[in-house]
Amino acid sequence: MDRIAITGGARLHGEIAISGAKNSAIKLMAASLLTDEPLRLTNMPRLADTRFLARLLRRLGAEVVEQDGEDGAETVLHTREIVSALAPYDLVRQMRASFNVLGPLIARTGHAKVSLPGGCTIGARPVDLHLDALRALGASIDLHEGYVYAQAPRGLTGARIEFPFASVGATEHAMLAAVLAKGETVIKNAACEPELGDLADCLNAMGAHVAGAGTSTIRIQGVDRLHGATHAVIPDRIETGTFALAAAMAGGEVRLTRTRSDFIDALLDKMVEAGVEVTRHNDGMTVKRNGHRLQAVEVETDPYPGFATDLQAQFMALMTLADGESVIKETIFENRFMHAPELARLGADISVSGGEARVRGVPTLDGAQVMATDLRASVSLVIAALAARGETTVSRVYHLDRGFERLEEKLSACGADVRRIAGEGESED
Ligand code: EPZ
Repeated sequence: MDRIAITGGARLHGEIAISGAKNSAIKLMAASLLTDEPLRLTNMPRLADTRFLARLLRRLGAEVVEQDGEDGAETVLHTREIVSALAPYDLVRQMRASFNVLGPLIARTGHAKVSLPGGCTIGARPVDLHLDALRALGASIDLHEGYVYAQAPRGLTGARIEFPFASVGATEHAMLAAVLAKGETVIKNAACEPELGDLADCLNAMGAHVAGAGTSTIRIQGVDRLHGATHAVIPDRIETGTFALAAAMAGGEVRLTRTRSDFIDALLDKMVEAGVEVTRHNDGMTVKRNGHRLQAVEVETDPYPGFATDLQAQFMALMTLADGESVIKETIFENRFMHAPELARLGADISVSGGEARVRGVPTLDGAQVMATDLRASVSLVIAALAARGETTVSRVYHLDRGFERLEEKLSACGADVRRIAGEGESED
């Protein structure tokens, strides 16, 4: 398996173009199941996760074509008919978001058999709210042998769905199913992440009537059918924040383009509080730090527009070298500090208790061999390594490949010493 080797110490100077958002792209790809006409998605990231989902969608009957468009990578998805409404365990277990094909399959064909996604390293991550929403829309749901068997032979019917807390995946799933339901659906306590607005925009371009996405109440008037459309994926706010933090950690000056600074206000506020210079532009921002030591600041993860849980690990990496003690609270997932012991291998001083990590800044980090445990945790190790003395190697790089497009190339273009070492099938355990 591949590894990434980073030699720390180089300042970063240059420009990084941000890719389309992974967590939007995979829901938009699932939306293509709702119509028998082609859905063309532009600004598509090319990632392991989009490839996993393409494989599942092909199994269900979609033709998926990746092509180069005028403005970068595109994917055209065309499901003339659903040839199978079965999403098997081996495909769903590789990526939890594959579970979101369940709603579109029921909406389009009236039945589906989809594997439960199973465990996940960052927390239990049940799908009870997804299933409650589909039941509210009139689907009958049975669980056996690790599969969800869903039936709605006369179609779905609009309903009022009130989530006990704002789940991103369950809100998206309810929206994906309700667009073809009869009558009105009102989703209360909906998640407000930008990816919800992107999904609504795409569905509306396909002929749906979705209003209020991006707020806590979403109203959907069901339609009989959806048609094809062209839709540009929004920029990846987590990739944006990750490179902003990489620039702050390594020092130097990096301009992030093709993105939106307002998607990461909560992060940028904290970075400025810590002493990083941030200048916003129409198409992104410039992040600058000229060698001075940063101040420790406290952070608590929250649903959007709060501080994103998907940036918590990367922010922790930044705090390892700050002056003072930073308290980092994780409120979304129960087991999302697995990067802490790996950062400690580089010399960080971190203690974790329950949902809280205390990071006492140290003057220097030293390169070491570390292991990626999940997507965001693994990139936090890369960020820390950029400022560590000597060489760090990160193993289990497949986690990074799930969600970061050409990471080494983008960092190297700004002067970082980051190389991929191709593995020869050796075990990394
Ligand atoms: C999405 O996951 C993202 N994934 C995650 O990004 C992100 O961390 C998360 O939202 C929060 O922003 C994708 O979009 C593919 P949730 P999701 O439902 O939808 C609990 C990354 O690194 N919950 O908002 O699964 C759940 O266990 C990934 O790109 C239930 O209890 O997040 C969690 O504690 C990691 N029952 C909390 O809600 C349910 O039915 C929030 O989860 C659903 C969720």
